[in-house]
Amino acid sequence: NVRIAVFASGSGSNFAALNKACSVGDIPADIVLVVTDKPDAFVVERAKQANISVVALRPRDFATKQAYEQAILDALEEAQAEWLILAGYMRLIGSVLLNAYPERIVNIHPSLLPSFPGKDAIGQAVAAGVKVTGVTVHLVDEGMDTGPILAQRAVDVVDNDAQKTAYAIHATEHELYAETLKDLFNN
Ligand code: GAR
Repeated sequence: NVRIAVFASGSGSNFAALNKACSVGDIPADIVLVVTDKPDAFVVERAKQANISVVALRPRDFATKQAYEQAILDALEEAQAEWLILAGYMRLIGSVLLNAYPERIVNIHPSLLPSFPGKDAIGQAVAAGVKVTGVTVHLVDEGMDTGPILAQRAVDVVDNDAQKTAYAIHATEHELYAETLKDLFNN
């Protein structure tokens, strides 16, 4: 199995879905570490319940982004992580991690990129009045929500309502991320 580290800053619903898919063998991978920049995030609770080690480091406790990422890299190497899987990690990946994991970092984003990159992609889509948005899984490069696209799936905007649309997006994310990683790691 592939050894993966999941990066998250929030509730961790994508982490939970991936952990389930790994546990039942749908994705040929093991989550060996959860990395967060938010020690209070709910994903930390979820990881502890799943008996997965967590590295929770605050960027502001480090002098530079390089030093912050080097501390993460030390933990990744200790855990022998082979791929980095971003699941709601709300921070740009810098040169230290990009150089250590070239073309081995995957992100999920709640829009059909290149539309609506950055924060609150679902709110951006509703505000723009589009009727269809969706989910993108892509390889990470130095840009924000750029990098080669691995998979996309459309999701209808529901009642011009961000919350109702978010519910549909999240369900699609959980399916699409598992399917995409399954294909990626089987090849
Ligand atoms: C997900 O919708 C993910 O696509 C998004 O954050 C949410 C995290 O939810 N990521 C981005 O917006 C990245 N630019 P979760 O913590 O429940 O998995």
